[in-house]
Amino acid sequence: MDEKEKTNSNSETIKNSSKIASEINEELSRNISAEDLGVDEIVYDALNVDVIGFGALNVDKLYNVANIAGPDGESFIKAEEESPGGSAANTIIGLSKLGCSTSYIGKIAPDAEGDLLEYNLMINNVYLTNLIYADEGNSGKVLGFVSDKGERALYVDAGVNDEISIDEINPLNVNATKVLHYSSFVGDSFNAQKELLAFLKDDVVLSFDPGILYAEKGVDALKDILDRTDILLINETELNVLFEYYYKEKLNADDLSFRDLALNICQDGIDTVVVKRGEKGAYAINSKDQEVKIPAFKCDAVDTTAAGDSFNSGFLYSYLNGFDLAKSCTVANWVASKSVQAVGVSGQPSLDELNEFLESLE
Ligand SMILES: Nc1ncnc2c1ncn2[C@@H]1O[C@H](COP(=O)(O)OP(=O)(O)OP(=O)(O)O)[C@@H](O)[C@H]1O
Ligand SMILES: [Mg+2]
Repeated sequence: MDEKEKTNSNSETIKNSSKIASEINEELSRNISAEDLGVDEIVYDALNVDVIGFGALNVDKLYNVANIAGPDGESFIKAEEESPGGSAANTIIGLSKLGCSTSYIGKIAPDAEGDLLEYNLMINNVYLTNLIYADEGNSGKVLGFVSDKGERALYVDAGVNDEISIDEINPLNVNATKVLHYSSFVGDSFNAQKELLAFLKDDVVLSFDPGILYAEKGVDALKDILDRTDILLINETELNVLFEYYYKEKLNADDLSFRDLALNICQDGIDTVVVKRGEKGAYAINSKDQEVKIPAFKCDAVDTTAAGDSFNSGFLYSYLNGFDLAKSCTVANWVASKSVQAVGVSGQPSLDELNEFLESLE
């Protein structure tokens, strides 16, 4: 069997099995002998972290332009800036700043954007063990053009983000984390996210922020993920896009509020449903009969990009620390408010700042 066949047959075995991690580990170990490596024994050691993120990695390139050029038109660029992004990556970095141990499943290419994405995770203490490196192609980028009048045009180049296959993901690491957090992809890596669920042990908590991209897929397309989701983090628009029609049909109802929707989602099996409501704050409900509506913190918002992602950091931090739903939403609103008061995710707070805030609550 040549090297290529070996890899293929191994990936087949992994794909078709629902074995527990230790059995997969055994299979993996058959490919390389200890003798090959000149050691007595190969031990596949899982990376033990609090949270692993799984979502797109993009470099956001924002251009200030005189005006948005139409077809055949021309304009000029007045200023440009570049920053690493991706919803789950923002959440993971926010968690890292709060002292949680984190890692990330995402794919980058051998280019300048890939280097920046990797560097950014590294300097924020995110373990790179689960990062996937493509041999060719380009890393994800989002080109944004903003005119003086505030008009916007966005172009997404998903690049290698959409080439993640299940056999590039180490199920041992995934099963050694407390929380696995999913955000969206533009294309096919959605399938890897669904396939990974077959390997996931029951004690790994799945947190899911569908974003508008997945919300637009509808309940049927997301069924596998929603069935396994423990914590749903969703904004009000996405909640309506994803669930309004579904529950109106199911319940034969004319009008359903966001609260009605959240209640039904929770009753249908998602343990915790959190609705992000922008300046209005957050609403949440869980299967322990806790239900809260927590106002946002009044602040001067400078940039609301990644507000929801930072909110997720605060919420998952609270979950890991066993806070009740009211305290979790308060912390999440507070982390988001710190984030919106500065550009991008630069305002995400440190653990010291959070501890100071928590003391002020007592
Ligand atoms: N202007 C604001 N002032 C204070 N807090 C805000 C403001 N905007 C957003 N937030 C906080 O951020 C949280 C998330 O914002 P939002 O509901 O807009 O999420 P989102 O649409 O998912 O954001 P994102 O653009 O990051 O995806 C809110 O629940 C709130 O706590
Ligand atoms: Mg969001």
